[in-house]
Amino acid sequence: MQRGEEIYSGKAKSVFKSDRDDALILHFRNDTSAFDGERIEQLDRKGMVNNKFNAFIMQHLEANGVSTHFIELLSDTESLVRRLDMIPVECVVRNVASGSICKRLGIEDGMTLSPPTFEFFLKNDALHDPMVNESHIATFGWADPEAVAYMQKTTLQVNDILSKLFADSGMLLVDFKLEFGKQGDQLFLGDEFSPDGCRIWDIETREKLDKDRFRKGLGGVVEAYEAVASRLGLAL
Ligand code: C5P
Repeated sequence: MQRGEEIYSGKAKSVFKSDRDDALILHFRNDTSAFDGERIEQLDRKGMVNNKFNAFIMQHLEANGVSTHFIELLSDTESLVRRLDMIPVECVVRNVASGSICKRLGIEDGMTLSPPTFEFFLKNDALHDPMVNESHIATFGWADPEAVAYMQKTTLQVNDILSKLFADSGMLLVDFKLEFGKQGDQLFLGDEFSPDGCRIWDIETREKLDKDRFRKGLGGVVEAYEAVASRLGLAL
């Protein structure tokens, strides 16, 4: 598969054309960003770890009935994915309070959230990804009502599938962010699922095993991602 022209470069991934009109190549880079891109560092091996981690999770979701854009791994740092028209909202589910919900609502970090919360955020770095609701999404035309319902239902379904996967290996899926897109009339899970876009804690010790290690300057970021992969039985 030949890598064609670069059509988009995000904070941690670049997107290239492929030999197929209906598919793109995602290149996972070592760049690691926090605070809406204000801080960016290169972390050795992170592109490879996230590419393989994402492939593993997307295949697990697909096997459990979730339609994803993932097609196949192309190399250590590249994957072939369906070409989607991305919906510019992020879907976040939280099983335990941490991060922005604690600041926004004055909730104690570590509190169990039952039932889990679901939130939409607008994908817009300049505005710091503000939280938005279904009414905003309808009024401003970011997605149609069917897509809104699909994203909410599918994100909660992904939460059920992945909470179990992590729990079976002694880890707690605290929260995560998903993005969706359309190919024709069909909706697919897009973007990525990796420790860059979720919070994962050890169930017993509550040690952080995700990008909060980078945000909080705790060190051992990629080592933690590798430990999560290894506990899931994923050989990198
Ligand atoms: O910052 P906040 O607490 O709202 O993040 C919730 C979850 O969504 C975290 O796991 C975080 O890593 C993820 N997230 C993300 N990309 C964003 C915002 C949040 O991956 N732009």
